[in-house]
Amino acid sequence: VDLSAANTLRLPCQAERFASPKTLTALRQTLAEARHEGWPVTLLGGGSNVLLPEALPGLVVRPDLQQHWLSQRQGHVLAHVGAGVNWHTLVMATAAHGLWGIENLALIPGSCGAAPVQNIGAYGVELADTLQAVQVMELATGRVNWLSAQECAFGYRESIFKGELAGSIVITQLVLRLSRTPAPRLGYGDLAARLASPPTPLAVAEAVCGIRREKLPDPQVLANAGSFFKNPLVADVLAAQLLQQYPAMPHFPQEGGQTKLAAGWLIDQCGLKGMRDGAFGVHQHQALVLVHFGGGDRQGLMKTASYIADQVEARFGVRLEPEPRLINPC
Ligand code: EPU
Repeated sequence: VDLSAANTLRLPCQAERFASPKTLTALRQTLAEARHEGWPVTLLGGGSNVLLPEALPGLVVRPDLQQHWLSQRQGHVLAHVGAGVNWHTLVMATAAHGLWGIENLALIPGSCGAAPVQNIGAYGVELADTLQAVQVMELATGRVNWLSAQECAFGYRESIFKGELAGSIVITQLVLRLSRTPAPRLGYGDLAARLASPPTPLAVAEAVCGIRREKLPDPQVLANAGSFFKNPLVADVLAAQLLQQYPAMPHFPQEGGQTKLAAGWLIDQCGLKGMRDGAFGVHQHQALVLVHFGGGDRQGLMKTASYIADQVEARFGVRLEPEPRLINPC
């Protein structure tokens, strides 16, 4: 099965087998069959944050659980959503219902099931802020368990699903805690300036879509996986040294003596915005996004990425790390 259209970077990838179960029962059966046949299992969501290899032996599973409903609890509205629901569709639907909570996360590509893995975040909001619980199925047993938000061990683009639980469970459902009480979060960038007050959740979501469309390439038009590098965390001491040299450098002090820098700014300062290296390049409006013009593979992409990371390291002494997940044959 050709997965080149199942990943937004459009990297060529051949999977030996592919399944897209629509119910928990079907998913359990698929996993049981893989165990019985001895097929290694690779999980895929919307394919918008992965770096796929050229070949994946065994079975690739993309859960297509589309169930979703709302319930009320203690002044909150809980949204229960299957892992296969498109994230952006969920954001627009809840915002249109007048529900606050995830409106800043509009237009993030991918599925709901993938959202907790890297704790998606944008414009001052992270999934962790509204996530109540995650339902998972154990690959080894087909058993279903629930994790509280705390058990997910969320950090910046981090969670237990990338760590301890990687390769042992599949996320099947999310429960999000939304609210009808206005709670706009407009502190990031020029979001506030784009909105009339008081805004509705739908107006915030639409403003976020506007900002993203200006800066981020549409993967349908130009293949990409959003930010290619994480924003690096550096020691406050290094940040202070860099600020002496580059007073305009964007910097965001964090807890624990660390400062987050803007990887896009660092790359931009190296004059790399808009550069092209064969099949790949740096997007012309946002230096953090690598784009694929076609005809390349993961090896070529990693070569371009290393070149960029080397340039930034030589100039700033900071090593950038890829943000999308490297998927390797099990
Ligand atoms: N900047 C530049 N040049 C560039 C890009 C950025 O100078 O080419 C500067 C900007 O002017 C700004 C700073 O760097 O001062 C930060 O830029 P921006 O607000 O565009 O956000 P970012 O840090 O580059 C992060 C997330 C995005 C998210 C935005 C908005 C990461 C790795 N990326 O980008 O997430 O949409 O903030 O919250 O944390 C993604 O993860 O795929 C993604 C797109």
